[in-house]
Amino acid sequence: MAKMVINPTREKSKIRKEIYGHFSEHLGRCIYEGLYVGEDSSIPNVNGMRTDVVEALKEMKIPVLRWPGGCFADEYHWKDGVGPKENRKKIINTHWGGVVEDNSFGTHEFFELCRQLGCEAYVNGNLGSGTVQEMSEWVEYMTFDGVSPMADWRKENGSEESWDVAFFGVGNENWGCGGNMTPEFYANEYRRYQTYVRDYKADKKIYRIACGPNVDDYEWTEGVMSTCFRHSQPFQHGFMDGLSLHYYTHPEGWEIKGSATDFDEKVWYKTMAKTLYMEELITRHGAIMDKYDPKKEIGLIVDEWGTWFTVEPGTNPGFLYQQNTMRDALVAGINLNIFNKHSDRVHMANIAQLVNVLQSVILTEGEKMLKTPTYHVFNMYKYHQDSMLVDSYVETETIGDEEYQVPNLTESVSVDKDGVLHITVTNLSVTDAYPVDAEILDRKITKVQGEILTDEMHAMNTFDCPDRVDVKAFDDVKITEKGLSFTIPACSVLHLTVQ
Ligand code: AHR
Repeated sequence: MAKMVINPTREKSKIRKEIYGHFSEHLGRCIYEGLYVGEDSSIPNVNGMRTDVVEALKEMKIPVLRWPGGCFADEYHWKDGVGPKENRKKIINTHWGGVVEDNSFGTHEFFELCRQLGCEAYVNGNLGSGTVQEMSEWVEYMTFDGVSPMADWRKENGSEESWDVAFFGVGNENWGCGGNMTPEFYANEYRRYQTYVRDYKADKKIYRIACGPNVDDYEWTEGVMSTCFRHSQPFQHGFMDGLSLHYYTHPEGWEIKGSATDFDEKVWYKTMAKTLYMEELITRHGAIMDKYDPKKEIGLIVDEWGTWFTVEPGTNPGFLYQQNTMRDALVAGINLNIFNKHSDRVHMANIAQLVNVLQSVILTEGEKMLKTPTYHVFNMYKYHQDSMLVDSYVETETIGDEEYQVPNLTESVSVDKDGVLHITVTNLSVTDAYPVDAEILDRKITKVQGEILTDEMHAMNTFDCPDRVDVKAFDDVKITEKGLSFTIPACSVLHLTVQ
C-alpha cells in the first residue's frame, strides 16, 4: 500500500495557467493543414482556422500559444507575412523539409487564431538573422495604438485595433540554429535587442524571454544570467522576465530517436527515466538562477518539451510527424506533475508541438481529426491551471528493468479558487496496479470524483479508431476516515476531484 500525504492548508505557489501552454511552428503540417486551411477550404473553418481543431483546443483550455518557431523564428521576416496574400513573398523553409512557405499565415492570422482560441500570444522574435529595427518594428506593428508608420500599416492591412503580446522571445536556440552564439555574445545581443522591444501599453507589459540553455548546458545559464540579470536590479518587469529551457525526451538518443509506436518494456522504462531527468534540469538550472534571483522573480520557461521519435514511416523526415501512444500520455503526466511541483520557478511550459508535429495533442489527415492520448492528459490536468500547488508526498517503489529504474508513481496536488482539491497521479508500471492510501490533513472529505486514462502501453488513437484511448470515469475510490483510498491501474494517468 503506497502512502500519500496531502496538506491542503500548505499552499506553496501558484500553478500559472501558462504551464499548460503550447507551441506551433511553421513546420510540416502544424500551421498549414493542422490549424490553418484557408477560407476557401472545404474543411469547415472560420477565417481559415479549422473549426474542429479550434473547438478541441478550447475544450482543453489552451492558455497560451508560442509562434512562429522554433528554428523557423530566427529566419522569419515578419513583413513577408502581412498585407494582401497574393503579394506575400514565397520563401523556402530551409529548416523543415525545404518546402515553399507562401506566408499566407502571418501576424494577422496568428492573432485571429489566438482570438478564436481565447488564449494569450507568445511571439518569438528573430535575433539570429533579423535586425534590431525589424524586431522593434514588429512590436510597434502589433502593439501600438497611436499614429506611427507601423501602426498605420497594420490598420491599412485590416486591423484597426492593436493586439496584446503577452510574451516575447528574443531569439530561439541561439546556441544552435539561432546563430551558433556563445552565451556571452548572445547575452549582450539580448540586452541590445530587448531594449527596443518597447512597452507601448503601460498596463500590459510584455514579458521578455531570453534564450536559455539546451538541456544541461549550465554554462549557458550562468553566462546569460550573469550578463543580463544584474541590469534588471531592483527587479522590474521588462528587462529579462524569463529564461527558456529546451529538453526533449529522445529514448534512443538524438541520432537514432526510435519508433513512436514500436517499443518494448526496456525502451518504455528508458523513456520514463529520461522524462524524469526534467526534475534534475529544473533543479540545477534553478539553482544557478537562485544565485542571482533568490526571490524567483524570473521564470524558467520550458518552451520546448515532449517526446521526439523517428518520423512515421513514409512521411517527410523534415516534417517531424509522429504517432502518440499511452507512453506519450505518461510522459505528459510526469512532466506536468514536475512543472506543477516547481511552479515557484517554472512560469510557463510549451509542449512541442500543437498539431501534427512531435508530441502533438491533435493529429489531422485531410478533414479527419483525432485527439491523442497526450490531449486527454492536458484535458484532465486543466483544473490545475491558476490553482495553488499544495504540499503532497507519495511513497514510491523502484520499478523498471536492470538498467532503467524509476519510481512507480508521481503526483501533484492543487487547490482551486473554490477550495476544490485536484490530485493527479501517474502509474509508470507497464504491468502492476498499486493501492494508495491518501491521508488528507485537516479536511473532511464529502465527495470525490475520478477520471482516468489507462490502456496497454502501445495503445493509440488512429483515424480508423479515433477513440480507442479515451478518458473514463474512475469509481474505484473510497472516502476513508483520514482521506481516500484507491488502486491505480498499471500504465495510467489519474485525476481525482475532491471536495
Ligand atoms: O520543435 C522542433 C525544433 O526543435 C524547434 O524548431 C527547435 O527550437 C528545436 O530544436
